[in-house]
Amino acid sequence: MKTIIITGGAGFIGSHVVRLFVNKYPDYRIINVDKLTYAGNLANLKDVEDKPNYRFVRADICDFDTIYQLMQQEHVTGIIHLAAESHVDRSIKDPFTFARTNVMGTLSLLQAAKLYWESLPEKYDDKRFYHISTDEVYGALEMTHPEGIVPPFTTKASSSHHEAYGEDFFLETTKYNPHSPYSASKASSDHFVRAFHDTYGMPTIVTNCSNNYGPYQFPEKLIPLFINNIRHRKPLPVYGKGENVRDWLFVEDHARAIDLIYHRGTVAETYNIGGFNEWKNIDIIKVVINTVDRLLGREEGEDMDLITYVTDRAGHDMRYAIDSRKLQAELGWEPSLQFEEGIEKTVRWYLEHQDWMDNITSGDYEKYYDDMYKNR
Ligand code: NAD
Ligand code: DAU
Repeated sequence: MKTIIITGGAGFIGSHVVRLFVNKYPDYRIINVDKLTYAGNLANLKDVEDKPNYRFVRADICDFDTIYQLMQQEHVTGIIHLAAESHVDRSIKDPFTFARTNVMGTLSLLQAAKLYWESLPEKYDDKRFYHISTDEVYGALEMTHPEGIVPPFTTKASSSHHEAYGEDFFLETTKYNPHSPYSASKASSDHFVRAFHDTYGMPTIVTNCSNNYGPYQFPEKLIPLFINNIRHRKPLPVYGKGENVRDWLFVEDHARAIDLIYHRGTVAETYNIGGFNEWKNIDIIKVVINTVDRLLGREEGEDMDLITYVTDRAGHDMRYAIDSRKLQAELGWEPSLQFEEGIEKTVRWYLEHQDWMDNITSGDYEKYYDDMYKNR
């Protein structure tokens, strides 16, 4: 019997990971530990909340005593750690919160796991501490393609992609060079995780993934924010010239990679996860506008005039691009969705779940937790 704590399970990626594990592994016990910050939303997990192998615990990962006691009570054998402050713009305004949760919170989890697992006769045997990180820790790449980046419309990690775009990708060996308070805090947490392997022999794994998109993403991030704004014909704030490049991966493909790596990844290794799917922001924004317009029965492109160029994000990284060939070669993972399918599915989901969106934008989802947890 495996008992796994998934931290940050009420957030965007965490909710997909919880759903996958609860449904795929009925004989595992899955404990979702989440503080329910503004980014946590239990509505993301409505379909699994009554499953017998699922438990939700509202807790702050910085609260060492609570986490340590939970590990003892539940005989926890693994941790998949996603809880974090995740939005770059917020980190620019409030870096302390990012250092607290991402650095101290990760350290508190590591220390609780260390003390608990080292107290057992079998110690670290069959244990895992899997830390989910980001490609942003590597810094920023230049635009290497002579004609700039054009949508490749492929999710295959192939040598042809490298021929077209050159060799300028983030590898697992790329030196860390974070620029934002968010990426600096994630880089710091990655170092702590590796240090716990090197110093104490904890069986850790770290993965660094590119930009995720899909259902249940908090509408402060580019894609859900813009889908909602287009629907309501509100301006679309494009930072700078809209030329920054991100490498987009459908969130369920990330969750599948996490499942595979948790079970078959090699301890102390790092794996990069990405879809070989680079887009300039302005190009992806145009695809989103066309898709929303079409699905709402408007004329395609009718809402292009909502595009509003605004002051650039401070320290805005130019380009992220992950080389995920190690994961593909060693564990056989590859993205399942072509980008056109993924974006269509995503836009359709948000348009069909306006109640989910309204619940967030009205703030009602937070009031609900306050009532629910007031006396606990
Ligand atoms: P998110 O902001 O949607 O969710 C974060 C979750 O963590 C929320 O449910 C929140 O309540 C919880 N949380 C925050 N602080 C906490 C604390 N102190 N204690 C307990 N729970 C807390 O984030 P996301 O986009 O789902 O990202 C999840 C993880 O994946 C993060 O570690 C992030 O760095 C990483 N990541 C994200 C992306 C992406 O594109 N979104 C890409 C690569 C890596
Ligand atoms: O690369 C992985 C990272 O992707 C994760 O580690 C982060 O947690 C996640 O938030 C995401 O970071 P980004 O900063 O790339 O995502 P965001 O959706 O905030 O922005 C995507 C791009 O769009 C970025 O270049 C900034 C730009 N942007 C964003 C917003 C919200 C705009 O032009 N306008 C906007 O309003």
